[in-house]
This record gives sequence, C-alpha cells and structure tokens, in this order.
Amino acid sequence: MITTIGCCDSGLGGMLVVKALKEAYPDLNIVFIADQSNVPYGEKSVEDLSRYARAFLDRFRKMGIHEVVIACNTLCANVIGDIQEEYEDLHIFNIIEPTCRQLAGHGYQKINVLATPKTVERHAYQKALGIFCPEAEVHEIPAAKLVPVIEDGCDPLLLKKAVEGYVTEKADAWVLGCTHFPLIRPYLEGKGEIFDSNQAIVDLFKDEQINGEGRVEIYTTKDPDKMKKSIQTLLKCEYDVKAITLDS
Ligand code: DGL
Repeated sequence: MITTIGCCDSGLGGMLVVKALKEAYPDLNIVFIADQSNVPYGEKSVEDLSRYARAFLDRFRKMGIHEVVIACNTLCANVIGDIQEEYEDLHIFNIIEPTCRQLAGHGYQKINVLATPKTVERHAYQKALGIFCPEAEVHEIPAAKLVPVIEDGCDPLLLKKAVEGYVTEKADAWVLGCTHFPLIRPYLEGKGEIFDSNQAIVDLFKDEQINGEGRVEIYTTKDPDKMKKSIQTLLKCEYDVKAITLDS
C-alpha cells in the first residue's frame, strides 16, 4: 500500500512525470522537488550530481517519505546505483530500465535515444536496451540544448530548431531519455515510434493499492512564481509552488 511518493528532478521534466502520475492515480499524494537553481544537470560532474541526489534523498527521508521516484535520467544513469545502498530505508525507483522495457518484443532494428550528454556518456540506455532489444542497433544522441530552451519558456521556434539539429533521420523507435523531452514530441512526428518515461513510471505502481488523499506539493530551489507560470503554460494545470532550500 502506498500513500505518498517523493519525486525529484532538475526542473520541469519531473513535473511532466507528476502530471502523468496524478492522472493515473488521483488519490496518490506526491511531493515533487525541482532543483531549478542547478538546472541543467546534463553536463554537470558526477561529484555535483551525487551531491544533488543525496540532497533530494536526505530531504525526502526527513519528510518521512519512503517511496522515491528519481524522475531524472541523468541522476539515474550516473549516481543512483552507487549511492542507493546509503539509503536502504528508502525504496528508490530508477526509471531507465522500466523505460527501456517498454520497447521489448517489438522487433525494432534501429533505436535512437535522445538524452543529456551525461546520460549518453554512461551508455545507460545502450546497456538497458541491449537487454530488452538485443537485436537492435542503438544510437545515443547527446542533446544538450533542449533542456535550457524548455526551462527558458519552451519557445516553439527555438525548440523546433534545436530538435532539428539532433533529429536528422528516421528510426524504428525513438526513446526520450530525459524527462523534459516529452515536450519535443510534436517535432518528432513521422520519425518513428516514440517512447518516454511517463507511462513506464505510471506502470511501476499499477499493482499497488494507493491510499492517499490526492495531495500534491511542489517545491523549487529557485523561483516559485516562474515555475507556477511554466506549469500553467506548458502543462495546462494549476499547482501552488513553494520555495525550498536543499543542503547540496
Ligand atoms: N530531466 C532530467 C533528465 O531526465 C535532467 C535534465 C537536465 O537538467 O539536464 O535527465
């Protein structure tokens, strides 16, 4: 039985995950923390990423939250495996394997993955897809420019241009290996099947009994008013956003 989950990311990507979870499980309580004073994470050092991950997990622990979705591929690829034994009291969900599992059994020959440079550097998607789609040729594309454009208001022309710089061919399937990237779906149309982490994360809880009151708390380490407006504009939903300081 689950009452509350904690969810964290560098920014708005995690909020897309929260929205998907909320739609699937209206009774679930969700506490989301966006570390927007450090966004983008995609080119940060492993040392920095470890500090950010620990700061999130320490805070959730202090809040008494034991189920934590790391809604950030960059943290999952680089640091979660190494630090999770320090947090044995928490149930930490790494989202990369569940995202890749969705592609199993389709017979895809050519799979392209768009992710942050730091995620690509660890070849986390290549490794996981190698298990679920052993017959596929996997091409990982480091896409550093997309997160800043999304965080900066998601200007459609800028985003389209940035996407076109990375998406130059068709593939059987595209994996959006960054939780910010569902927002680029319109610019990938006609290029192949598209998979992101949202449904995979929703499915993590499909056999659980959810026993909350549907409370959602959203925190940012930067500017709550700006985040509230971005959520209204990009996600078309209304949430209060509060400021938080993390010890990272
Ligand atoms: N949304 C995160 C991810 O899934 C982090 C992106 C970033 O801050 O660069 O990788």
